[in-house]
Amino acid sequence: MRILHVVGARPNFMKVAAVMRALDGHGVDQILVHTGQHYDEALSDLQIADLDLPRPDVELHVGSGSHTRQTAEVMLRFEPVLERIRPDRVVVVGDVNSTLGAALVCGKLGVFLAHVEAGLRSFDRTMPEEMNRVLTDHISDLLFTSEPAGDANLQREGIPDARVRAAGSTVVDSLLRVLPHTEGRAILDQIGRDRPYALVTLHRPATVDDHATLRSVFGALEELARDVRVLFPVHPRTRKNIAAARIAATNVQLLEPLGYLDFVALQREATVIVTDSGGVQEEASVLRVPCVTVRETTEKPATLEHGTNVLVGRDPGRLLAAVREAIGGGRRETTLPWFWDGHAGERIAGALV
Ligand code: UD1
Repeated sequence: MRILHVVGARPNFMKVAAVMRALDGHGVDQILVHTGQHYDEALSDLQIADLDLPRPDVELHVGSGSHTRQTAEVMLRFEPVLERIRPDRVVVVGDVNSTLGAALVCGKLGVFLAHVEAGLRSFDRTMPEEMNRVLTDHISDLLFTSEPAGDANLQREGIPDARVRAAGSTVVDSLLRVLPHTEGRAILDQIGRDRPYALVTLHRPATVDDHATLRSVFGALEELARDVRVLFPVHPRTRKNIAAARIAATNVQLLEPLGYLDFVALQREATVIVTDSGGVQEEASVLRVPCVTVRETTEKPATLEHGTNVLVGRDPGRLLAAVREAIGGGRRETTLPWFWDGHAGERIAGALV
């Protein structure tokens, strides 16, 4: 059996790694296609190395561009690859433009498509990822959900139960696997152990593209940095907007984007995490680190109900109040879904084979 996996952007790598590793034991011929949506070393190569992923067999080099162009480039460049390789199954993960582009090509060529992390919904159609999620799910032949809300959403949208498998979170699989390797990371010495810090990641268009919003959120972080160290590894989209909005970081410590192991190391030791990412909400919950999410919605409600996550929107007052409360509260108790157990990849591999 031949299974082709598609990766494109930073949040894809840990999900694909868990599935490929689990398939290794099944004697399957695996092919990894990298669309090149993310091409920076920190967003791509470092993740591949940190996760022990094989080098991609095929690279499509689609690069950046408008959402339309990027999705269309993935389709144009992926179609001949799929026609040449003719896999028995294609696996796409998550919700980035590469996920949808590759899924559409499979739908048009009638190639069996599996979607890992299916069914998640923020119910906010202004998020580019929401359209990617909905459309990818409706094209897929086999849908692997990562938390109970995913099953309920798919059922409500009329996707037959026979196509859906409750698999669990591949984000958690990779996190649990690398955790023992993050303890001695040099980054923890570089930033100085035993000095508490808040860890920040922000990159969503809704948070960083509008200069007034970015200024106001950044203002809250500067104020926070008077109480506690604030470490902020900056995504390229955010870096461009910080420069364009002429924001000067005075107390907030801006860092380059980090590889997976360094970022997990910083997460596990953080006093609080402030983010607008999806995966980080899950990772913080598993690590029992309080997480303050700078969004009005989340596609991962398990992190609110059973994890450490709170939503505060982009209001600086709510953000500061929630972070201060989190700092006072320390580590949280959690009751996470049973299938966030580190074995989602194995359940997915079994069903694929
Ligand atoms: C993408 C995903 C988002 C994910 C995020 C994680 C979509 C719709 N969005 O957003 O879901 O959370 O990745 O990182 O697919 N750039 C670089 N180097 C790169 C890639 C991009 O400098 O390697 C710059 C480009 O100039 C581009 C900007 O960053 O304008 C944004 O990149 P893009 O891939 O379009 O979307 P992300 O914001 O990264």
